[in-house]
Amino acid sequence: MKTILSLSTPSELDTECLVTVVLDRGEKEKPDPFVATTDKAVQKAAAEIISSGEVTGKSLETTLLHQPAKLKAKRLLLLGGGQAKKFTAADLRRLTGAAVRALKSRGMRSFAFVAPGEGGRPEEAVKAIVEGAFIGNFDSDTYKSDRKDQKIDALAIVASGDQGSLQQAIEEARILGESQNFTRELVNEPSNHMTPTILAQHAKKMCQEVGLKCEVYGAEKIKELKMGAFWGVAQGSDEPPALIVMRYEPAGAPEKPVLGLVGKGITFDTGGISIKPADGMEKMKYDMAGGATMIGAMRAIALLKPKVRVIGIVCATENMPSGKAQKPGDIQTAMSGKTIEIINTDAEGRLVLADGLCYARQLGCTHLIDAATLTGAVVVALGYYQAGIFSNDDAFYEKFTKALAASGEKMWRLPVTDEYLDQTRSSIADLMNTGGRWGGASTAAAFLKEFAEDTPWLHLDIAGTAWMEEQKAWIAKGPSGIAVRSLVEFVKQLGESA
Ligand code: BES
Ligand code: MN
Ligand code: ZN
Repeated sequence: MKTILSLSTPSELDTECLVTVVLDRGEKEKPDPFVATTDKAVQKAAAEIISSGEVTGKSLETTLLHQPAKLKAKRLLLLGGGQAKKFTAADLRRLTGAAVRALKSRGMRSFAFVAPGEGGRPEEAVKAIVEGAFIGNFDSDTYKSDRKDQKIDALAIVASGDQGSLQQAIEEARILGESQNFTRELVNEPSNHMTPTILAQHAKKMCQEVGLKCEVYGAEKIKELKMGAFWGVAQGSDEPPALIVMRYEPAGAPEKPVLGLVGKGITFDTGGISIKPADGMEKMKYDMAGGATMIGAMRAIALLKPKVRVIGIVCATENMPSGKAQKPGDIQTAMSGKTIEIINTDAEGRLVLADGLCYARQLGCTHLIDAATLTGAVVVALGYYQAGIFSNDDAFYEKFTKALAASGEKMWRLPVTDEYLDQTRSSIADLMNTGGRWGGASTAAAFLKEFAEDTPWLHLDIAGTAWMEEQKAWIAKGPSGIAVRSLVEFVKQLGESA
């Protein structure tokens, strides 16, 4: 999708469709909608339908007018944004997604979006508009032979302000949006089209395109590194595992910090010998979403060029039952030397991440973030709306919340205190890979924390948020690309403060 900054007056724009936000400044019951632009001609064109009461400005309300009077545009789309005083960049991001989805399904291929002006920072608005448009433009219908290939090809963003900084905001947002969609494409692929080997090929190709170093290791190296926890999972599959290492080492960046981004890359999770029920198992193709998140984030980081070192690590394997598979009761020795009693082979994510985190520390990472579709328990706790976030370092977590505020992604902090670790102590080994029935998201996090050791660490459990169970007006059903933008915003902020 092309993104073009337009500094012209909205009513002067020759476009298939001009989109403006309608906000409500009314008190309580009585709506008082207004078009969020200073362009008098646009206000006039919408005046009649607004005064008729048909348009109220409530969130996501869409009203399409044809041949609007005195406008060059062929159509005018009025998009409800809800209460004016509560309107945020996150709302705007969703609105452009909704505009893209509404217009492309009506056969349009381009439109112009008027940044709601007055107050606020126009750069922030422009960035939200472009991100939202990319998010809305993605569809997961690649394998449908009657797919419609409906995409918006060109978006004009109508704003006023400093041309240079607006242009820069657009460029940044495009990199973020494209990278998020890249992650979504990887996650969308079924496991027969996305084996660990294929995932590694995608990572390699991306790294070549954006100028990152990329190494991919197989079973030999995994065993040589003594990654007994990772190998314990990989040994059951006929598909070879892949340890993917992507390095971003910009010239002029300080020696420290070095951020490690570690992703769970289970390209299919059957549960292994502790096999999952058939019902819903097909969804376990998205169990590599954490890994795909890190690959997408590395792409954006390479293109945005913050002055901070980042190493991306993806532990990719299938989790299969077979004659070679690990069994409950087996004891594995992790790379760090800790021994793990396997209680349930379906708790495989923490095993591959244990060695991924340890390896990241060995490579010199001073800070760690992992992302994983780790537990069903986090879905029970937080549903589909918020990812779980866990940390061993309050200051690190606080910093990350600034990135969450910038990205608009929602994550809720859950505890990883020592009691949860006690639940995972084994009588015959150092740890068990499960922690009993209760507090499953926290016991899984406590297990990982043992491998982050004293390195400041964040864990993002995206099991409930990596896949949209239903479509929304602003986003398709399927992979969401959660966490890519937050991670990149965080690295950007690290680069600025270093
Ligand atoms: N990949 C699953 C977690 C998951 C559940 C992801 C639902 C997406 C949606 C993970 O490997 C798993 O199987 N976890 C088990 C752990 C249990 C055996 C301790 C779970 O949550 O049931
Ligand atoms: Mn599992
Ligand atoms: Zn899993």
